[in-house]
Amino acid sequence: MSLNADLRHVIHALSDALDLVGVDDVAHGKRVGIMAAACARVAGLPDDEADFLFDLGLLHDIGVSSTRTHTHLVQLFDWEGSQVHCQVGEALLAGFPPLAAMAQPVRYHHTRWEDLRSPGGAQHVAPQVARQANLIFLVDRVDALSAPHHADNTLLDATADIRSTIAGHSGSYFDPDWVAVFLEASRTEAFWLSLEPRAVQACLLERRDRSCTWPASVVELRQLASIFARIVDAKSPFTAEHSLGVSRLARYLAERLQVSPENCDKLEIAGLLHDLGKLRVPDEILDKPSALDERERRIINTHSFETFQILRNIDGFEAEIAPWAAWHHEEPGGNGYPFHLEGSVLPLEARILRVADIFQAMVQERPYRQGLGVAQVSGFIEALVRQGRIEGRVAGVLLDNVVEAMSVARPVFQDVARIF
Ligand SMILES: [Fe+2]
Ligand SMILES: [Fe+2]
Ligand SMILES: [Fe+2]
Repeated sequence: MSLNADLRHVIHALSDALDLVGVDDVAHGKRVGIMAAACARVAGLPDDEADFLFDLGLLHDIGVSSTRTHTHLVQLFDWEGSQVHCQVGEALLAGFPPLAAMAQPVRYHHTRWEDLRSPGGAQHVAPQVARQANLIFLVDRVDALSAPHHADNTLLDATADIRSTIAGHSGSYFDPDWVAVFLEASRTEAFWLSLEPRAVQACLLERRDRSCTWPASVVELRQLASIFARIVDAKSPFTAEHSLGVSRLARYLAERLQVSPENCDKLEIAGLLHDLGKLRVPDEILDKPSALDERERRIINTHSFETFQILRNIDGFEAEIAPWAAWHHEEPGGNGYPFHLEGSVLPLEARILRVADIFQAMVQERPYRQGLGVAQVSGFIEALVRQGRIEGRVAGVLLDNVVEAMSVARPVFQDVARIF
C-alpha cells in the first residue's frame, strides 16, 4: 500500500485524540510538549533530544482514556491513582518499536525524583530516562497548576505562585537541575504566552511544516492505529475491543466484496480509528446504563465529526481513511449524522464500515447482557436494511457468513487490553 504518510506526522495528529480526553480543555499534551522543548533548549540539549521531549510531551498521557482520570490528574497535584496510566502507557508504547524509547519515561512520569534516585528507589532506571521522565513530570505539574487560569485568562497573574510551588519541590518531586532550568525558562512572559491556544496551534503548524523524513510502512501504520484503537476501546467496559473487532470484520467483508487489497488495508486502519472522537465523550455519558437523554445523545453523536477533524489532517489519509472512518454513522437513506450525506455519495468502504460497526456492537458481550445470537442479530440486520439504515448488498454478504462473521467480530482479549 502506498499511503505516503509520514510517521511523525501521524503521531502528532493522533496525539490530538489524546488531548480530547480533556473535554473542555484539549491542549494538555501539546502544552506539556511545548514546555518540555523550551526547557530542553534552555538546558542546551541537541535538537533531536528536544524534539524527542516534545513528542514525549504529546504522548505522555497515552495511558489515559477516561475523562474522570484526566480530571483527577489535572486537579490534584499528587494523586494516589496516578501510577496506573503510567503502566498502561508503558505497555502500549513498549510494543511499538518506533516509540519504544518513550515507554520507560512514560512509566516514571509521576514518580518523585527522590524515589527515582535515592538508594532503594527505582535505581535500575537509567539516568537519562530518569531525567526525561522527571522533566515531563515537572512541566506536567506546571500545566496542572496552570489549568484553572487558562479558562479565565489569568495565567500571567499566577506565574509567580506556580514558579515558587515548583521551586518548593526541588530535590523531592523534581530534579534540582530541571527546577533551575525551568525557573530560567519561565522567567519570560513569552514562555507562558506560548501556551495560549493560538500560540499552541502556530507551534504545531510550524513543526508540521518542517521537512519530515520518516516514511511509515503499512505495518507501522496498522500497529500505531491499533494502539489508538486500544486507547478508545479501553474507555468503557461496554466497548472492550470494539474497534479491533470492527476493523477485523470490515476487512473480512471487504475481501468478500472484491475490494482491492490496498483498500482493504486502508479500511482496516479506518476501522481501528473510527471512534477516536469518543475520547472526548465524558465517561458518565458513555457508561450510562440507562437510556440517554437528548442532550447526552447530541454529545455522543459529535464523536464521528471529532474523528474526522483528527484524521483529515494526516497527509495520505484525507481522501479515503478519514471520510470512511468519519462516515460510519451516515445512512444510505440520508438520515445519518453528522453530514447527513445521501447514500449515493457513500463509498462502498464507508458502507462496509457502518455495517461492521453495528454488527460488532450487537454481538459483543456487555457487562449487563450476552451478545446477541444468530437469529436475533440476523433479524435486526434485515430490519435495518428495510429501513434504509444500512446497505443491502453489504448486509447480504454479512448474513451469508453470519456465524464466521460473529467470531471475527468478537473480542479475543489480547494481553494489552487486559491490563486496562
Ligand atoms: Fe500523566
Ligand atoms: Fe499529563
Ligand atoms: Fe461510532
